[in-house]
Amino acid sequence: MEVNIHMKKKFSLLFLACLFVFALAGCGGGAKEGSTSVSGKKITVGTDASFPPFESMSPTGDPEGFDIDLIKAIAETQNIEVQVKHTGWDAMMAGLEDGSVDVGIAGITITDDRKKSFDFTTPYFTAKQVILMKKDAPAVNKVADLKGKKIGVQSGTTGQFLVEEHLGKGYSGLKGFEEVAGAIEDMKNGRIDAVVADNAVVKKFMEQLKLDNVNIIEDTSAKQEQYGIAVKKGNKELLDKLNKGLTAVKENGKYDEIYNKYLGR
Ligand code: ARG
Repeated sequence: MEVNIHMKKKFSLLFLACLFVFALAGCGGGAKEGSTSVSGKKITVGTDASFPPFESMSPTGDPEGFDIDLIKAIAETQNIEVQVKHTGWDAMMAGLEDGSVDVGIAGITITDDRKKSFDFTTPYFTAKQVILMKKDAPAVNKVADLKGKKIGVQSGTTGQFLVEEHLGKGYSGLKGFEEVAGAIEDMKNGRIDAVVADNAVVKKFMEQLKLDNVNIIEDTSAKQEQYGIAVKKGNKELLDKLNKGLTAVKENGKYDEIYNKYLGR
């Protein structure tokens, strides 16, 4: 048969089109065997890996910690594929709202205000704000006693909200940091007097940084806080799966295993 130049062109176009279709199909085959991802895609988990023992950066640059193990364990029970990304605190919150982040896990306290923007799983950890101060500083018992002092907090966290509750919004001694570690650094160097942050995290930093000239002060009036895993408001499909997974890991012993690994004494 005679094949003219136009037919040749047609055949090669057809061939390219077939290749393209095969390549697309092949990509889909890359997903883990048997895994179903919610609405057909890998779930992006955002975190702020500056909050040990809940999340920090491993030496290889991947987020690691209690929250990371927990979300991976939860995902496994639900056959969800997850990818954990260090986004930072503010970008995690923004990402949840704009859809670039599906799940936020970062020791996030469930608050009424946040519930307006996000949906949370059932609580998975109980925390409290504490005050970190140098031992030689005049004794205080509660956040209200810090009036007149320079106080460091991670911006946009419940530590900030607690200080504002007692000393007023716009309190001039309040200094916001991107990460808790920055606030602790400033306290060590005498640029601020105190840090207010979550108890287990402050304790972990004390150990890691070998801070022995500081005290942790528990304000007995500070309310207990509950950590929850956040999704975009209304993402019921994903929230239900996370809640199911959380129940499963609490029942199958995995939660306790993770707890003991990162918080066990
Ligand atoms: N529990 C506090 C809050 O929700 C602080 C959380 C900060 N987490 C972090 N990964 N930096 O406001």
